[in-house]
Amino acid sequence: MFRTLDDYDTAGKTVLVRTDMNCPIDPDTMELLGTRRIEEAAETLRDMPRARAVVASHQGRVGNKDYTGMSRHAEVLRKMTGRDVTYVEDVIGESARAAISGMRDGQILLLDNLRLCAEENYEFEPGAAASTVMVGRLGPLFDLCVLDSFPTAHRSHPSIVGFPRVLPACAGRAAERELRSLDEIMTVAKAPHVVVLGGAKVADRIEAMRMLIENGRADHILLTGLIGSVFMRAQARLRSPLGIKREEEMVSRAHALIGEHPDVFATPVDVAVDRDGRRIEMDVREMGRDDQVADIGPKTIDYYARMISGAGTVFMSGPAGRFEDAEFSHGTRGLLRAVAGSMATTIVSGGHLGAALKMEGLAGKIDHVSTAGGALVLYLTGKKLPMMAALEEAAARSQ
Ligand code: 3PG
Repeated sequence: MFRTLDDYDTAGKTVLVRTDMNCPIDPDTMELLGTRRIEEAAETLRDMPRARAVVASHQGRVGNKDYTGMSRHAEVLRKMTGRDVTYVEDVIGESARAAISGMRDGQILLLDNLRLCAEENYEFEPGAAASTVMVGRLGPLFDLCVLDSFPTAHRSHPSIVGFPRVLPACAGRAAERELRSLDEIMTVAKAPHVVVLGGAKVADRIEAMRMLIENGRADHILLTGLIGSVFMRAQARLRSPLGIKREEEMVSRAHALIGEHPDVFATPVDVAVDRDGRRIEMDVREMGRDDQVADIGPKTIDYYARMISGAGTVFMSGPAGRFEDAEFSHGTRGLLRAVAGSMATTIVSGGHLGAALKMEGLAGKIDHVSTAGGALVLYLTGKKLPMMAALEEAAARSQ
């Protein structure tokens, strides 16, 4: 049981809105590539028109190329809300606090990337999170905390579990929709559970697969993308290194997982490689030393589509290749069509796939399209997400 915006009158109140506007970013132009999460934040803000809304989010991870300030997000939020959004290049310092204290009713203020504050890069017990400098400095300025960052619901960061300890808290519209829809779907989800996994967050995905298998949520895992290549290296089917961080460690963790669960994993039989921007399809064993996988091939699409058609539940996360480039989007689009056409309960996760579904006109054929990645995996394993626990505790306190 958690509270929602329907339980609070936010007019004239100073409200912290913890969104997840973490977007994929083009590393060359630094442009935001998908803005669905910002659209969701705008929807929540529309339902609190007379509040003094202080919007907060992280963007990227420290040290990664997508770790940036929030000025581009402010521009998009301005367009999407049609309202004036003030952006302050500060999180917990004097300028942020002065800007919050000087707000008018109906104003929206966007803070800078929360992860600029060191504490937001660590996980805390809720009690310790409530004692952080971040919560100590900002908490007294707010009347209410709206938790709307479902994609970050698996993190015990101060902004997720600290503020709700010291403030009344409720779910924003995006978090509310995700939680209600997933709760409903999971009551009808049945075996066999087929997981279609691609994308590039290799370390996170290896951990996620282990959890899904151990909790009976993955009978078959169909691998694509960079994670698929890591598993092909673990099977000694790819010879050339992939050039990713901690590659040998990832390959040996993949090798261990295959050894523990030999019947669960499927890897591509054929792929498409990029030769001077041209799509060249071939069996994996025909790949040359310099070839890097840019997509899965047609035989793999067919093979995976047959597995998907026999599923009771399908969970798909991460693109099958460099889907932004039309030449290498066949795999992602083909698999999404198979998921949309199956009789299974279907859940598709992540910004890239949400955008691809829209382009294919298939969004309405999926039972649940989520903006979350890691949080959704944890939810599917049946574990209580820290953000959910924080919302439930806050609701119990306010009775
Ligand atoms: C996501 O995109 O999955 C969320 O924003 C969480 O990001 P994180 O994995 O860097 O905490």
